[in-house]
Amino acid sequence: MADTRRMLVTGGAGFIGANFVHDAVENSDANLVVLDALTYAGNVARLEPVVGSPRLAFVHGDIVDRELVDRLLAAHDIDTIVHFAAESHVDRSIHAPEAFIRTNVLGTHVLLEAERSRWLGTGFPTSGRDPRFHHVSTDEVYGSLAGDASPSVESDPYAPNSPYSASKAGSDHLVRAYHHTYELPVTTSHCSNNFGPYQFPEKLIPLVITRGLQGRALPVYGDGRHRRDWLYVKDHVQGIRLVLECGRVGNTYNIGGEHEWANIDLVRFLCRTIDVAFEREPSLAERFPDAPPAGGGACADLITFVDDRPGHDRRYSLNISQAREELGYAPEPDIERALAHTVDWYLAHEDWWRGVLDGSYRAWVEKNYGTELT
Ligand code: NAD
Ligand code: DAU
Repeated sequence: MADTRRMLVTGGAGFIGANFVHDAVENSDANLVVLDALTYAGNVARLEPVVGSPRLAFVHGDIVDRELVDRLLAAHDIDTIVHFAAESHVDRSIHAPEAFIRTNVLGTHVLLEAERSRWLGTGFPTSGRDPRFHHVSTDEVYGSLAGDASPSVESDPYAPNSPYSASKAGSDHLVRAYHHTYELPVTTSHCSNNFGPYQFPEKLIPLVITRGLQGRALPVYGDGRHRRDWLYVKDHVQGIRLVLECGRVGNTYNIGGEHEWANIDLVRFLCRTIDVAFEREPSLAERFPDAPPAGGGACADLITFVDDRPGHDRRYSLNISQAREELGYAPEPDIERALAHTVDWYLAHEDWWRGVLDGSYRAWVEKNYGTELT
């Protein structure tokens, strides 16, 4: 059966949300309403590849605005909410946690309440589809793992260590409680570190690529031996689709990449990939004259060890057996290829990331959407 859901996608102008929207427009018959506040991390230019689709509407607004959420659920007869909207950057949560509590905890609560009153009240969706609230969470809620510990499973206790992960844990508990208490039809996924096209260049992988191309220092926190499980964003999108299609209501699923790397190894790999790209394509030296390989050097010369992030979790790792066995989820086995594609994407989309770095994308948003941005 064609996927004809009527979805509200919160945070659909963010990195993962936009990749999800691209896939849903291209590979399903779903109607999509993107609700996004366009914070510093949101950027409607991410939706350019699918703009013009009659199945896509964009609403500039805040998930904390209950009246707006109620109106959208009713006006579009929404039967599925896929909830990406969040403050997502750990470093920012250390400096200014309030926004994380507001959006991640209060915002999720507003969506749950709106859904509760509509789906469990008189406004049950008329589409004939079973309603669903899918909550996108993180592996960080399980806390930091010892080097020799087994990867986290869904039933592991929570031990969030940063204001960011604590706010995500709070939202997860609300989602769980609304299912337990009100039988709200929810699913939750915990994913690991995503990478791929359109990621904001404050996160490690796009930061290394874009700074490397500009010949700027590549900051590695602490000893660089912290480990993360890297997940290609296209695999994450595939995992969420599978949870929507065949996940058990009330259940949580780990969605990881099974590619655990120490940060310093990942940074060195990205540096080598950039160097090789310059060997392959000599014209890159003209476009990026400050990148070390343009002058015969190596990108890795830019690596600079800096002070560690306060409270920095040493290791995350996810056991994804449940998603594999129950949903048929299978992440890309060749992460080096996915990373190389990602480097190529940033090489080919210089205008996009330069616009993000110099802030000009916000002028583009205002011109095209007439919005006042803070
Ligand atoms: P992102 O920061 O790129 O995008 C977040 C989006 O949410 C932005 O478009 C922003 O404008 C929007 N937003 C923020 N506050 C809002 C509000 N109050 N109302 C409406 N919209 C608002 O984040 P991302 O990397 O795409 O992450 C998406 C989700 O996945 C988040 O919930 C995050 O916690 C989770 N997650 C991300 C990763 C990762 O590696 N990026 C890993 C695990 C989990
Ligand atoms: O694990 C999932 C989480 O991954 C998500 O829930 C978060 O939303 C997402 O931002 C990401 O959090 P991290 O803190 O792991 O991602 P970040 O890219 O900021 O950092 C990855 C690792 O690299 C981490 O160990 C910190 C380190 N790092 C990061 C930056 C930005 C550096 O060494 N130098 C840097 O400049």
